[in-house]
Amino acid sequence: MDRSIINKLLVLSAGVFVLGGCTVDQEPKEIIRIGHNQSGNHPTHLGMEKFEEYIEDELGEKYDVQIYPNELLGTQTNMVQLTQTGAIEITVASNSILETFNPKFEIFNLPYLFESEEDYHNVMNDSSITDELFLGTEGSGFVTKAWLDAGTRNFYLRDTVVETPEDLAGKKVRVQQSPTNVRMMELLGGSATPMGFGEVYTSIQAGIIDGAENNELALTENGHGDVVNYYSYTQHQMIPDEVIVSTIFLDNLSEEEKIIFDKGFKLMQEVQHESWGEKVSEAIDTIQTKQGVEFNYPDVSIFREAVLPLHEETLARQPELRNIYKIIEEKNKK
Ligand code: GCU
Repeated sequence: MDRSIINKLLVLSAGVFVLGGCTVDQEPKEIIRIGHNQSGNHPTHLGMEKFEEYIEDELGEKYDVQIYPNELLGTQTNMVQLTQTGAIEITVASNSILETFNPKFEIFNLPYLFESEEDYHNVMNDSSITDELFLGTEGSGFVTKAWLDAGTRNFYLRDTVVETPEDLAGKKVRVQQSPTNVRMMELLGGSATPMGFGEVYTSIQAGIIDGAENNELALTENGHGDVVNYYSYTQHQMIPDEVIVSTIFLDNLSEEEKIIFDKGFKLMQEVQHESWGEKVSEAIDTIQTKQGVEFNYPDVSIFREAVLPLHEETLARQPELRNIYKIIEEKNKK
């Protein structure tokens, strides 16, 4: 683990100890640390604030919820590792990177898995589909207690309008650190450059990469729209963010507390989803009018055709995903 993160956690723990030592007869509060990689203005952060408010209203005598945005506790990969060891209690991690911790998550990383955002929401909100994955990863040291909207991913490059996969040829495009994303870029003919979210802005600015792919909020909240000129609606992935919770933390909760926390996660998800649409509409305006980025709407079917082999490749490697894949296909058709 990164030394600087260990140091941060030691300082955090020391702080807790000192506060706890203030009075002799008062039990120190238990700190619940939530790490995420978005800004303090992002729908995800707003969802976390709602969670904090609710938990502290209900159980404030015992718990102190602390939210660490902007990769303060490390990259998502670092934070997942810290959640596994119980060093932090809750992390927001893209479904993309979770596949490196548990291969079942690969299913939601497949490009063009969903026909529309409506289908995506219908599947993600159907616990008969998601429970097995979300609650079945205790062996990995965490379970998923909520899913957060992360919209639709599209390409954005500094100097290139992406109209067809050929436009990606020879372009260095940042992808999330997951084998599925690397393979997707290979099939599209681009050069995949996996890196953490926090490094993307400076890498585009310095010309280390030609661009990246993400939802609209990456351009506004993370400033990527200041360093690219084109945003191309290839709509290649709808990848949820998962709110993962350390099993070490969950196992220590009483039954009553578990019920309260579950309600808190539900509220967090609701607030995040509610604010998503509004923030994206605002972003679409800002990107074009203030950041001067040009939008284009390529024929999506060419991109879909190019990456479709990835579905069969994944299912052949992981036949146990066939069932959920079939259910999603059926839902898409409705
Ligand atoms: C989105 C997503 C994040 C993810 C990021 C990325 O912003 O919400 O969870 O880390 O994309 O591309 O890395």
